[in-house]
Amino acid sequence: MNEVFTKSMARNIFYGGSLFFILLFLGLTFDTTRQLPKLDNRQAITDKVALGKALWEENNCIGCHTLLGEGAYFAPELGNIYKRFGNNKAAIKGFIMSRPKDGIPGRRSMPQFNFTDEELDAIAEFLKYSSEINTAGWPPNIQG
Ligand code: HEC
Repeated sequence: MNEVFTKSMARNIFYGGSLFFILLFLGLTFDTTRQLPKLDNRQAITDKVALGKALWEENNCIGCHTLLGEGAYFAPELGNIYKRFGNNKAAIKGFIMSRPKDGIPGRRSMPQFNFTDEELDAIAEFLKYSSEINTAGWPPNIQG
């Protein structure tokens, strides 16, 4: 058997490999575009959801929390908080409302934001909306 690795062998590997991965890439792209409409179950963005999102941004919740994986890893993931709290908006509002003014000494804790009831409701509505986005099963567990 010829042990020499010739130029034409190298060329064949290059062309063959390139062709294989181009076809794989096209196949996966085609599959993704086919799956996307099934994933899209977005609910209408109401004024309340929009207000909740604005409050989420103004108060930099993402400076401590992640939302669907994006953000800081200081505090729990909130993309599925609505489900984690038993599909209960009141529980989310209650939690945010009940944070002690000066935090909890000796451990990481969440500040008190002094939101009005309307603002709390909007934030809870925004978090409910977020939990209903089809993320194909992510995060993998309810803890986030
Ligand atoms: C300074 C960091 C910080 C900021 C900013 C922050 N949080 Fe938190 N949050 C925490 C920490 C830490 C916890 C974990 C529970 C605790 O307070 O001990 C938490 C917990 C929560 C929980 C309950 C999560 C669970 O799994 O029990 C909710 C809901 C929540 N935050 C919502 C918000 C919202 C909405 C905002 C923005 C308005 C916000 N947080 C801003 C630090 C923060």
